[in-house]
Amino acid sequence: MSSLSEAHRATGPHSGNFTPPDFRSLQELPDSYSWPQLDDNSSVDVIDPQAAFVPVVDLADPNIVDLVGRACQGYGVFQVTNHGIQMGLIKDTEIEARRLFSLPADQKLKALRPPDGPTGYGLARIAPFFDKLMWHEGFTIKGSPIEDARKLWPDNYTSFCDVMEEYQKGMKELCMRLKRVILASLGLTTEEDLKLGGLGPSGEFTEGCITALQLNNYPSCPSPKQAMGLAAHTDTSMFTILYQGDISGLQIFKDGVGWATVPPVPGAFVVNVGDLLHILSNGRFPTLVHRVFVNQAHSRISIAYFYGPTPNTQIKPFPNLVEPGAVPRYRSMPWGEYINIKAKHLDKALSLASNIDQKQTQEGDCVNEEIA
Ligand code: OGA
Ligand code: NI
Repeated sequence: MSSLSEAHRATGPHSGNFTPPDFRSLQELPDSYSWPQLDDNSSVDVIDPQAAFVPVVDLADPNIVDLVGRACQGYGVFQVTNHGIQMGLIKDTEIEARRLFSLPADQKLKALRPPDGPTGYGLARIAPFFDKLMWHEGFTIKGSPIEDARKLWPDNYTSFCDVMEEYQKGMKELCMRLKRVILASLGLTTEEDLKLGGLGPSGEFTEGCITALQLNNYPSCPSPKQAMGLAAHTDTSMFTILYQGDISGLQIFKDGVGWATVPPVPGAFVVNVGDLLHILSNGRFPTLVHRVFVNQAHSRISIAYFYGPTPNTQIKPFPNLVEPGAVPRYRSMPWGEYINIKAKHLDKALSLASNIDQKQTQEGDCVNEEIA
């Protein structure tokens, strides 16, 4: 398999009553979870994956701007160490996530995310695009999770809320540090550069930002070779900061190369380019196509933090990255419009937002705030 469209095999959105099953009660893989095409995937497990695909960078490295710029321009992903987030906080967040997913299935369903609702427990948002189901359950948080947490633990929700809020505070700070580095790697270093790029003096989105914390659980699986944890996708965010613990499962895709596993590095975060950074960089940074596989021995928890602007923010490629006289690769639009295109067309969204690729589409009001 060598192209993105082959990697996706999306069938277009379809509706259905998607609620996660009680995974513990499934001793065999039901047919609805069996992905037949997985067998013919040419999955590469490279000999030195860290060097070849996903560089590990130290945030305090004096050459950080250059290192991050090269990683983003290469595969659109790197792992970051020395990031200032205490290991204790990361572990506490993982413990709370595990506590949530080990609740009885009917208890978790009390906090079910409503269709098109922003937060709560449920399947992956990309689930409606695929015929087969994924071996995954998730929980989405935006700011305080208190309303959903109360439904799960009526008398005992504070430790979950405190930890999730603390983790998001840490992620926000790390996000700002990473964003400055990423912008500098694109040549936006001065206030004047940032202003020309449509950003505020510290590189902030002038209309404000939206973040989401996604807790993922991939239960241990009776037939991991036939199952899919999370199907191939790109993140809509500007970039995503992922903690994948010490159990591997994340794979990245590159045209002409195939799939490669991102090896867990203790204490490091995986940072990947999302659709927005791809657009802002005028295509210089590829948005990372990735998926998750599952395994039989362990259930795997991951924690993803998505960062992007509010839907009314006007988005266009940074002018300093467009050749003089050339047409920018993507058209200018409110971010909510792109989010709506993605919600309807998934992997076709970037080409639909393109100035260069074939047809364009105009989608309605920007009411959708999803960035995951
Ligand atoms: C996601 C994602 C990867 C993982 O939540 O968008 O890609 O390892 N997660 O769980
Ligand atoms: Ni993702």
